[in-house]
Amino acid sequence: MKLNNHVFGVSLMAMTLSAGAAAADKLTFYCSAQEEWCQLMARSFEETSGIDVDMTRKSSGETFAQIRAEASNPKGDVWWGGTGDPHLQAAEEGLTAEYISPMRDQLHPWAISQAESAGNRTIGIYSGALGYGYNNDLLAANNLPEPACWADLLKPEFKGHVQMANPNSSGTAYTTLASIVQIFGEDEGFEFMKGLHANINQYTKSGSAPIKAAGRGETTIGIVFMHDAVAQAVAGFPITVVAPCEGTGYEIGSMSIVDGARNMDEAKQFYDWALSAEAQNLALQVNAFQVPSNTGAQTSDKAPDMATIKLIDYDFVKYGSSDERKRLLQKWDEEVSVLPQ
Ligand code: G6P
Repeated sequence: MKLNNHVFGVSLMAMTLSAGAAAADKLTFYCSAQEEWCQLMARSFEETSGIDVDMTRKSSGETFAQIRAEASNPKGDVWWGGTGDPHLQAAEEGLTAEYISPMRDQLHPWAISQAESAGNRTIGIYSGALGYGYNNDLLAANNLPEPACWADLLKPEFKGHVQMANPNSSGTAYTTLASIVQIFGEDEGFEFMKGLHANINQYTKSGSAPIKAAGRGETTIGIVFMHDAVAQAVAGFPITVVAPCEGTGYEIGSMSIVDGARNMDEAKQFYDWALSAEAQNLALQVNAFQVPSNTGAQTSDKAPDMATIKLIDYDFVKYGSSDERKRLLQKWDEEVSVLPQ
């Protein structure tokens, strides 16, 4: 009898708990910024809103492909972070929902123009310039010259010393491909990518992996966003950050709500919060040195100074369009990645 009472008590408690859990608000959060930042955003939003967050970090191109694959039965609610091009492509393909946040008047014009060019289906949350970083110790040990330009990376002595991500999975690497095409023109740009391919030791899945590998001494050079290279230097690794002499491209890291999101109200709540200065300042806690889109958020004094970098006028509308992104990736797959190294 006593035992029965106990069992009854426990099962009642379990019922109450599961009823409570079912009623709790939740959010499925797809994240394409750096892992530590994704985790901090998920935890902080849970704390401020009481909403349970289920976060998955995948690279920008991978998340885009996942949202497209799930389009008939959406599982994700909000996609935060990652380069803007795949967010623009998702907007064009109707995979993401239109939303105008009340926070919009707190944002830099570059963040809003990203939204306007995509029928308000995405918005800018940060920006950062592309470049590369190298490991000073490995460079010296291998008696290599200090690279300063994109063209330097094609030198035969760098064979096997350069790492970048695969542009299909990684937004960083797609930004690299699109920037090179814009800097050198398409024909010369693809010749550049072929020459670079000869020096590449590995194409990684995630965009920042090459500079983490350089920090650990596993590759000499990593092609990444400059802020990712700064993060390695700040962490104490012997990394020099390069803004390539010919000029370089940049990203407008973006955020979008998945069309048909199951938790649409929670997605909008996250979206508004993520545009606040308070949420954007969390970046400083995890060495994320991007430039935030909220005009009141702080930019770290360690962040690369965009004003001193020779930036190209990156054509987001063109290179974020579905046709152009597909075409360039296919061309890279067929003409570059298949070449012997
Ligand atoms: C890093 C950078 C971000 C960028 C992201 C893209 O996390 O710090 O600024 O948006 O890479 O990731 P991916 O893996 O798609 O290149």
